[in-house]
Formats: sequence, C-alpha cells, structure tokens
Amino acid sequence: MASIPDSAFQRFDESPDEEFYRLPRFVTHIDDSAIAAVTQLYRRYFRPGAAILDLMSSWVSHLPPEIEYSRIVGIGMNGQELAENPFLDEWHVQNLNRDPHLPFADGEFDGAAICVSVQYLTRPVEVMREVGRVLRPRAPLVITFSNRCFHTKATACWRLLDDDGHLRLIAHFLREAGNWREPDCCDARLTTDGDPLYAVVACRRDDQDS
Ligand SMILES: C[S@@+](CC[C@H](N)C(=O)[O-])C[C@H]1O[C@@H](n2cnc3c(N)ncnc32)[C@H](O)[C@@H]1O
Repeated sequence: MASIPDSAFQRFDESPDEEFYRLPRFVTHIDDSAIAAVTQLYRRYFRPGAAILDLMSSWVSHLPPEIEYSRIVGIGMNGQELAENPFLDEWHVQNLNRDPHLPFADGEFDGAAICVSVQYLTRPVEVMREVGRVLRPRAPLVITFSNRCFHTKATACWRLLDDDGHLRLIAHFLREAGNWREPDCCDARLTTDGDPLYAVVACRRDDQDS
C-alpha cells in the first residue's frame, strides 16, 4: 500500500497547535441532529461498563448520558475545556501532531472515539496505530466527521477531498496503521438535514486474524 507523502499533511497555518487552541472554545462544532447521530453510534458500539478513550476531546464528549462507563479518558489541546467536560474521569493535554504516543498500556480501553477532529491530524497513521495498541482486540474506534472545520488547521489532503474522499482517506489511514480489521465506512450520511455526519468504524485486529 502506498504511503501518503508528508506534503499531503501540510496546513495553511503551521503555527504551533498550542497557540491555536490556547483559548477555550465552549461551543459545539456540529448541530443537535449531528450530535444525536454521534451519540447513537456510541450507544451502538460502546458497551456499558467499557473504558472509553475520547481523543481530540473538548468540553463535550457526546456519549450517551444514560449509559455508565467504567472509565472515560479525554485527550485534547485545551485544559480548560477538558476540565469542564462532565464525562471525563481523567484528561491529558497532548499535542498528537507533536507526540502521537499515547500514555497508556496495551489493551487498556474497550472503545475509542475521534469526533469532528480527524482532519487536524498531521500524523494520523501513527495516531491510529497507537489507538489500536491501547484498545483490546476487537474493540471499536468510531471516527465521525462533518463538512465544517477550522480550514487553516485542516491538512491539505483533507481540504482537497469531498465527503466520499474523506471516508476513503480515513479507511486508508487505518489500513496503513496495520492493526485494524477492515474499516466500515458507513456509506450514507447519518443525518437527514442540517449538518451532515459521516462515520468510519474499525475494530482492533485480533491475534487470530489472518
Ligand atoms: C472541532 S474540535 C472537536 C472537539 C470535540 N471532539 C467535539 O466533538 O466537539 C477539535 C478538537 O481537536 C483537538 N485537537 C486539535 N488539534 C489537536 C492536536 N494536535 N492534538 C490533540 N488534539 C487536537 C482540539 O483540542 C479540539 O478539541
């Protein structure tokens, strides 16, 4: 499989992400129906009692409020946002573009999420390989995206593609990471009006997988 060249991950704004995310943004980035679609996916893929990793997290996680999880950990860029997130038991400020290594042991989590943020990763294959490492075998990663973003911080390959291209791009990252089963690109948008919402779900490979 051909690797995507580094130039595809250039951004208009190459200033440190720490600066861009220094001030908290207590806003939601998608509308209520798109948030409901994200929550519904989590309801489907994250079982009660699971340990969940919310990557690229903020003050909201969109997890179903009625389900009890054993542990929810957030990683994001702004500590004030993460501190206000009522779902998180634990959080870390970490720039994944600088350091994609996740500070967790192998197989510590039962599920992971990246919501409306994957377009900001300049080293997505390394990050996804790390997410696979910290998930137990067969555990799901749910990646959702819409059609809006901080344009100057989105990578060139993301900016150049349409929604269908984004689904394929994420699937490519996961395949290149090498520790995922074949991803499921939900082939239709998950909302009927308002903000579009798309998802790619992949499960961590099992040692028994060929
Ligand atoms: C559009 S917001 C989405 C936040 C949240 N996931 C949601 O669903 O509302 C983008 C998020 O990506 C995170 N982010 C952006 N660049 C990052 C980086 N280099 N490392 C880690 N997180 C990053 C920011 O902290 C921010 O919370």
